Amino acid sequence: MIPFGIQVTGYQSLMKTLKGLVKTLPFPKPTLFSGPGSSLQLCEAISQMGVRKLLIVTDSMLVKIGLLDDIESKLEDLGVRYAIYDGILPDPTVDQIEAGLKVLKRERCQAILAVGGGSPIDAAKVIAARATNDKSISRMEGMFKIFTAPMPLYAVPTTAGTGSEVTIAAVVSDPKKKKKSPIMDPKLVPMMAALDGALMTGLPPHITAATGMDALTHAVEAYLSANALPETDGYALAATKLIMENLPRAVAKGKDLKARQAMSFASYYAALAFTRAGVGYVHAISHNFGAFYHTPHGLANAIVMPYVLDFSKRSCTRKLSKLADVSGLRQKGDRPQKLASRFIDHIRELNEEFGIPDRLEALERSDIPAIARNALKEAHYTYAVPRYMDQRTCERLIGKMLA
Ligand SMILES: NC(=O)c1ccc[n+]([C@@H]2O[C@H](COP(=O)([O-])OP(=O)(O)OC[C@H]3O[C@@H](n4cnc5c(N)ncnc54)[C@H](O)[C@@H]3O)[C@@H](O)[C@H]2O)c1
Ligand SMILES: [Fe+2]
Repeated sequence: MIPFGIQVTGYQSLMKTLKGLVKTLPFPKPTLFSGPGSSLQLCEAISQMGVRKLLIVTDSMLVKIGLLDDIESKLEDLGVRYAIYDGILPDPTVDQIEAGLKVLKRERCQAILAVGGGSPIDAAKVIAARATNDKSISRMEGMFKIFTAPMPLYAVPTTAGTGSEVTIAAVVSDPKKKKKSPIMDPKLVPMMAALDGALMTGLPPHITAATGMDALTHAVEAYLSANALPETDGYALAATKLIMENLPRAVAKGKDLKARQAMSFASYYAALAFTRAGVGYVHAISHNFGAFYHTPHGLANAIVMPYVLDFSKRSCTRKLSKLADVSGLRQKGDRPQKLASRFIDHIRELNEEFGIPDRLEALERSDIPAIARNALKEAHYTYAVPRYMDQRTCERLIGKMLA
């Protein structure tokens, strides 16, 4: 099956080393505020930390719909001055991040508050790191390349998907090179975060669905990872259960605050799982769909996940059946094989319910070899996947997604 046995042994020993690191390295967690209105409690904490001038990093859409209004009023009441940088677009680029850094310096800000989905939070992480490290963004790509502690960073997620408020990662896009590169360093974890479901009730159904499927992918890939630990398994299973119970409600009835709050916890737990255990081929392929076609990250994951799980199933049947169990899919007399398949089928059914297609319209046949090459490069040196694949198998798997 795999014609490059030596390389596979190489990945596997690299993954063993990584597991050792994952087990022993301290992974910081943000001080957490949660519940409707918790973003305002976070503002109070920021003021109590002695911050006098803050840079708010966000996207212009969120400013336009008034999502920042209460946060701004609260900061004004508390006497915390702030500047807003709203130049972040989905899949942030080096240029957008550097422009934010300029505003930070010009306005002499002492700390950063990220308000938004994964894109503004990731961008804010890199702005914070650039503020204290004399190092280009490209030289920060990869693992553990940030030497000096970044500027204090606080985060308010407005999507329930990436969990960037707790992860060691920030993803930067290079549209010219058609590349999305993760920067991974425990120093990137924000100091404090607020999981405020009230900020998510206006999230449109298609973004709710896609970002929620991103969170599910984090939980599933972390649970199936060979680097999983009992702690990450606990978070991954809890996240899966919460997502299965709440995502359909959050999509169908956006104003359901209980479902929104539950999804914000689910996204946080899933991120606690994957920030240690890692992700897998679904993310490796979907990062490239993002880089080549600007496919929204969660949407790409939702499309790719069933195909990768079909491939991985024979090496992780028991784990998939456990995921099915916590998703409430067990039927009397089910054997693990059957239950594992039911979990994959259920992901396909969820996609259908959310209007997520099973093929990628933008995918071009001629791009498949490059997408597969990039995906395998990302996966094989970063993720401890349950079953390895080679270039030909990856190309064939991606080919199934042609419209
Ligand atoms: N750092 C990590 O650990 C990590 C993990 C997974 C993905 N990512 C990265 O995060 C990015 C994706 O982030 P995302 O999926 O959260 O989406 P996003 O931040 O790109 O936002 C998507 C869209 O949703 C809108 N939006 C956000 N919150 C809203 C709200 N409350 N109401 C209405 N509209 C709202 C935004 O304006 C935007 O148009 C990608 O670049 C991805 O690679 C990072
Ligand atoms: Fe993700």
